[in-house]
Amino acid sequence: MLVFAGALRHLMGTMGKILVLYFSKSGNTAKMAAEVAEGARRIEGTEVRLRSVAEAGVEDVQWCDGIALGSPTNMGTVAWEMKQFWDVKMPDSWGKIDGKLGCAFSSQGGWGGGAELTCQALQTILMNFGFLVFGLPDYVAHQFTLHYGATLAGEPREEREVEACRRLGQRLAEWVAVCVDGRRDQHPLTSGRKRFPW
Ligand SMILES: Cc1cc2nc3c(=O)[nH]c(=O)nc-3n(C[C@H](O)[C@H](O)[C@H](O)COP(=O)(O)O)c2cc1C
Repeated sequence: MLVFAGALRHLMGTMGKILVLYFSKSGNTAKMAAEVAEGARRIEGTEVRLRSVAEAGVEDVQWCDGIALGSPTNMGTVAWEMKQFWDVKMPDSWGKIDGKLGCAFSSQGGWGGGAELTCQALQTILMNFGFLVFGLPDYVAHQFTLHYGATLAGEPREEREVEACRRLGQRLAEWVAVCVDGRRDQHPLTSGRKRFPW
C-alpha cells in the first residue's frame, strides 16, 4: 500500500516535500539552513521550501512530509523567536500534523556552547506535535559528526561544516523517500551513498 501510494505520488510528480524552517538573528543559522536545503535536493524528486519563521506559515508545516528546524543557541536553548512560531502560529494544528519526519540544527557562539541542547529542545517541540525525530550515526570527517543534528560554531565555512548541514538535509529527504514514498532504494544502509570518511 505504501509502495502504491509512493508510485502514485511519483506519477503525479509530487515526491517528498521538505521544509527547512529557521530563525537567525545575525545570519549564521540562515547559512546553515541554505546548506540543509541544498542537501535535501540531493535526493531526486524532492521539493524543498526554505523559510524563516517570519516568512513561514501554518500551511508550510502542513504541506511538508519532513522538517529540518534550525535555531541559534541562545542561553543554551532555542531562540524565543522560534519558540514563538510554535506557541503562536501552530497551536490549532496540534493533534493534526502527527507522523511527519523531523530533525534539528543549531549555530552556537563557540564549541561547547550548547548547540546540541538546542537541537534536543527543537526536537522536543517537534515531538510535542507528533513528529518522528531522528539522529544520524554518520561522520562527515575525522572526529566530526552530527548524531543529534547539525551543530556548528558560527557559520559553515570548512568543507566538513558545510557537509554536516547538507548531510542532515540529505538524510531527511532520504527518510521521507523511504518512509513516505516507499522508495526503499533510498535507504541509507543500502543506497550506496557514503556515510563515513573511512
Ligand atoms: C541572546 C543570545 C544568547 C546566546 N547564547 C549563547 C549560548 O548559550 N551559547 C553559545 O554558544 N552562543 C550563544 N549565543 C551566540 C549565538 O548562538 C551565535 O552567535 C550564533 O552563531 C548566532 O546565530 P545567528 O547568526 O543565526 O543568529 C547567544 C547569542 C545571543 C544573541
